[in-house]
Amino acid sequence: MVEATLNELAASAGARIEQAGSSEELEQVRIEVLGRKGVLAQISKEMGKVLPQDRARLGKLLNEVKQRLEQASDAKQGRFAEAAMRARLEAEWIDLTLPCPQPPVRHLHPITQIQDEIEDLFVSLGFAVLDGPEVETEYHNFDALNIPATHPARDAQDTFWLDDGNLLRTHTSPVQVRGMERLGPPLRMVAPGRVFRNESVDASHEHTFYQIEGMVVDREVSVAHLIYFMKTMLTEIFRQEVTVRLRPGYFPFVEPGFELDVRCLLCGGDGCPVCKQSGWVEQLGCGLVHPNVLRSSGIDPDIWNGWAFGLGLTRLAMMRYGIDDIRLLQGGDLRFLEQL
Ligand code: PHE
Repeated sequence: MVEATLNELAASAGARIEQAGSSEELEQVRIEVLGRKGVLAQISKEMGKVLPQDRARLGKLLNEVKQRLEQASDAKQGRFAEAAMRARLEAEWIDLTLPCPQPPVRHLHPITQIQDEIEDLFVSLGFAVLDGPEVETEYHNFDALNIPATHPARDAQDTFWLDDGNLLRTHTSPVQVRGMERLGPPLRMVAPGRVFRNESVDASHEHTFYQIEGMVVDREVSVAHLIYFMKTMLTEIFRQEVTVRLRPGYFPFVEPGFELDVRCLLCGGDGCPVCKQSGWVEQLGCGLVHPNVLRSSGIDPDIWNGWAFGLGLTRLAMMRYGIDDIRLLQGGDLRFLEQL
C-alpha cells in the first residue's frame, strides 16, 4: 500500500516537476511534495503504522524517492535561474566601448559675455575691476554723488527703498564713491553690476538691468581723454566702426556731462522700436567728475580731476544681438538664450 503510493508519487511528482513552466510553479510543487507539511512528510509520519518487517525497506524507498524528487527539483530550478540570468544578460548589456553621450555645450549669458569683454579691455588698459553692493546706502547712491534730496532720481517712483532706509542701487555710480574711498587717487576703475529702478516694464524698460561704470581720477584729465576711451571701448564692443554723437547731458555728479548716442545698429538709423524711431540709441552717460564728488570722498579737486561713464550692458546686448524686447534677456527662456 505505502510502496504503491510512493511509486505513484515518484512518477506523478516527477512529471509535475518536469512540466513546471516557471520557477514559481516549480516551487509550488516542491512545497506540496517535499515541504514540511508536504505529501512525503505526511507519508513519513505514517511509517509508524507499517509492519515492522517492512519498515526498513519502505523507509529506504521513501528516502530514495525524496532524494530523487529533490534532485529533480533543484536541477530544474537551476535551469530556471540560468534562463533568467541569460535573459537579463540579453536585456541589460551595455557596450562599454561606445562613445558616451557628450554633455551639451552651454554658454554664458550674453550680458555676462559683454561684461567680460569690457572688463578684459579695461584691465588691459590698467583699470581695476571693482564690485559694490546691490543694496546701497542713500549716501553712496545719492548724497556722495552730488544728488541733492530734491533730485528726480530720488523720487520714490524711481527707487526701491528698503524699510531700513537703504535702497536697491539705481546705478553703478555708488561704486565710484566706494572706489575713491577705498583706493584714493590716482584711480582707474570699472565696476559692472546689476541695478534696479521702479519702472513699469515694456520692450525697452526693465526694473532690473546691468550697467558698467568707469572712472579715472588723475591730474589734468580732459574731455579728450574721455572721448578717446569711449571710442576705444565702443569700437571693441561692436567690433566695427560705430557712429557716435555727444549731447549735453545732466548728471549731478559730472560737469560737463554728456549723453553719448550710437547710431542704431539694429535699423541703421531708419527707426525701429529699440531706438524709438529716432535712429539713435542712447548708449551711455559720461562727463568730467564734479568737484563736489571728489571732495565728498576726501579728494582735493584743486589737485585731482577725472572722468566717469555709466554704460547700460543690457541695452548693449540688445544692440549687439538685434534684440528688440528687453524682457527677453532676463525672461529665463532657454529657447531664446540658446540662439545667442
Ligand atoms: N549713473 C548714470 C545713470 O545711471 C550714468 C552716468 C555714470 C553718467 C557716470 C555720467 C557718469 O544714468
